[in-house]
Formats: sequence, C-alpha cells, structure tokens
Amino acid sequence: MARVLVVGNGGREHAISDKLYREGHEIFMLGENPGVAQFGTCITCEVGELPAFCKEKEIDLVFVGPEAFLVDGIVDLLEKENIRVFGPNKATAILEGSKAFAKDLMKKYDIPTASYETFTDYKKAMDYVEKSDFPLVIKADGIAAGKGVIIAQNLEEGREALKEIMVDQIFAQAGASVVIEEFLEGEEFSLLSFVSGDKVMPMKVVQDHKRAFDNDEGLNTGGMGVYMPIKHITDLDIEEALEKVVRPTAVAMIKEGRPFKGILFAGLMKTKDGVKTIEYNVRFGDPETEIILLSMETSLYDLAEAVLDDREMEIKWKDRAYIGVVLASKGYPESYQKGFEIAGLDGLDSKVFHMGTKESDGKILTNGGRVLIVCAEGETLAQAREAAYKDVEKIKCDNLFCRKDIGHLSLK
Ligand code: AMP
Ligand code: GLY
Repeated sequence: MARVLVVGNGGREHAISDKLYREGHEIFMLGENPGVAQFGTCITCEVGELPAFCKEKEIDLVFVGPEAFLVDGIVDLLEKENIRVFGPNKATAILEGSKAFAKDLMKKYDIPTASYETFTDYKKAMDYVEKSDFPLVIKADGIAAGKGVIIAQNLEEGREALKEIMVDQIFAQAGASVVIEEFLEGEEFSLLSFVSGDKVMPMKVVQDHKRAFDNDEGLNTGGMGVYMPIKHITDLDIEEALEKVVRPTAVAMIKEGRPFKGILFAGLMKTKDGVKTIEYNVRFGDPETEIILLSMETSLYDLAEAVLDDREMEIKWKDRAYIGVVLASKGYPESYQKGFEIAGLDGLDSKVFHMGTKESDGKILTNGGRVLIVCAEGETLAQAREAAYKDVEKIKCDNLFCRKDIGHLSLK
C-alpha cells in the first residue's frame, strides 16, 4: 500500500482517487471533494507548502490532475525536493499551455492538424478574419478551462469573437495571442496515452460531447458526457492516430529537448482526409477519465510507476460499454448560481463522481459549473445508457441540467 496525494478536486481527480483507493492505496487530496472525503483525506494548502506536507505524511506519489498546476510547474517544484510526482514538467506542459507552441510543433513535424495562423496584433488578426472563409475557429492561446475556443459561423461572429478575446479579454491573459484556424468537419474522439519519452501506451478511445445541449447545440463546454466504445472509430483510425499523431508527437518532444512523461491526450477529428489533431492536453481528460478508469483493469499506480521508471507496460481493459452523463448547473458554461442542495445520491447502481460540489451541514450542495457525473457500465452501450439515465432521474436538485443524448452517435 502506498500513500498518494492527488492534486485537484474535480470529477477527474475523484475518479483517479477512487481507482487508486480500489487498488488499496491511502488517498490524500489537495482540495475539497465530498466524494473523496468518504474514503480519503482532503487538505487545503498553498502549492508552496506541498513539499513539507508530502515529507511529513511520507507521500509515495503525487498524481497531478489539472493542467493549470502542470503549466505552472508543480512537477518541477516537487521533483526539486525529491518527491515522486506523476505528470509532465513545466517545459513539457507547454504543449497544452500554449496552443501556438502546439500548432508550431505540429507544423514542424508534419503532424496532421487544421491549417492556422497565430496573432498577437488585433488589427492583423482582424484583417485575416475579414479575408477568411467560414466557419472559422478562433482560439485564445493560453488555457481557458476548455472554453477558450469560439467557432464563428460568419464574419460578424468572427469579428465579435476576436473583439471578445483580444479587446474585452474575456479569457484574460490567455487571449493575449490568438490562433485562428480552419474548421475541421468530422467526428471527434479522445485518445489518451501514457507516454515516457518515446514509449507510448495507449488507452481506450472515448468520445466526449463538448456542446452544452442535445444535438450538439449551444456553447462549447469542458464536456457534457462521455462514452465508449465508439462505433464509428475503427481500429484502423486508432492505428492512424497513433502512427501519425501520438508517436510522432512523443518523438518531436524529445527532439525539442522536452521529453514527455505523463499522459498525452490527443483530441482528434476523423475527417474525410484522415485523422487530424485538434489539440493536445498533457493530463487525463475530464470527463474522459471517469469512464476510462472504470474500464481499466491494470493498476493505475503501477502504470504511473512504469512511466516514471521509463518502462513499457501492457494495459488490460474490461470488455464492457461505459457511459458518463454530466449534471451541470443551469447557465453553464456561462454564469450560474451555486449552493443548491442535491438529494438522492445514496443507493444508486451507477458510480457518481463529484465534479463541483461541497458539503455543508451534512448536505451536498452544488458548487461549480459541472457538478456531478453519473457513470454506468453495461454489456452494450444501450444498456449502459439506460442504467445511467435511470440513476440521473433519481438525483434531485433544482438547478441541474444534463444532455439526454450522450452516446447517440454510436447507438444508431
Ligand atoms: P480545444 O480547446 O482546442 O480542444 O477546442 C475545443 C473544442 O472546439 C474541440 O473539442 C472541438 O469540438 C472544437 N474545435 C476546436 N478546433 C476545431 C477545429 N479546427 N475545427 C472544428 N472544431 C474545432
Ligand atoms: N474533456 C476534455 C478535456 O479534458 O480537456
């Protein structure tokens, strides 16, 4: 048994903690999560205080969930103090921290992606938008919780998006520079791999539903639901993604003097011209992780150790279908209220992970945009979906909504 500190307190980190706890480890979490508090110890402190905490509690491994910590260099900080930590260092996390870096890397190493231009000058960016075809994708360069991407359908929306990002600075400094790129049409999927240098250990592919409402309407969110298997992504597509995107990226990072250690998440689009890269993340996805880890038979702790020791390891999976339905606060991804009581969480068959809740006087309250994810498994996707939505119905709260069509593309 090891002592693990999980950094971050959302649904992804609840799922990581749950998996490590099921493997027999003792769990500490940086941040409050009422789901994790049932079996682990939640702490609050500054990042700078973590080395002392880890030494005092004799933490064997720190597992970092959110990108912001990685981009800020938490791994460098802990490694300097000889604390074992899973995740990429600051120099490597730039792959997610700067979309311009990621796009330039793809261009340099011939990794398929949408064509693009990067701008720091508002007027030049506007000139480019004026001359572009639509739809057009306009992205804040830095990290913006999955929300820094605007798909402009026409010139008017393009002008508005650029003004919001560069002049009104709705994503603050993340929008100081923008990437403007070609709109890719096709089916999106997420391929996550454990990567250590040039060693790539892929996980099962999953599909995340990014838009807020049914039929992929509404704004982009951090993800409203997730499922596997994906019927329309074949083994050949996965092979193509590994050979043309994931492995070349691992090699490119070595060549750039930034060898990767951690989880490389490729956000991909299957287009009529083949698989193309939409984005990289340098960590587990949220909500992807919540079902990936339910399906994973191999020990997550052992996999993290393998990556840290630069070893290759086979990953075993349960041959089942999974679905996760996110319950979000009404108004998300724009403004929403918090503090609504949630009832009906006990005695469900599904696994429920807390994405944004807090406990107060023995009650569970909403405390974020994405609040809970209800995850179910089944022999088939249809069964998993029925099981998940049956439990969604049992959760009572006045201020939550969910998509009713998670997994629809693979059920037809
Ligand atoms: P990103 O933060 O770059 O992953 O973008 C968020 C979401 O915007 C993606 O998951 C896609 O759904 C969408 N998106 C981003 N880039 C493109 C693109 N070039 N073409 C079409 N959709 C895109
Ligand atoms: N679900 C997408 C992400 O974690 O970035």
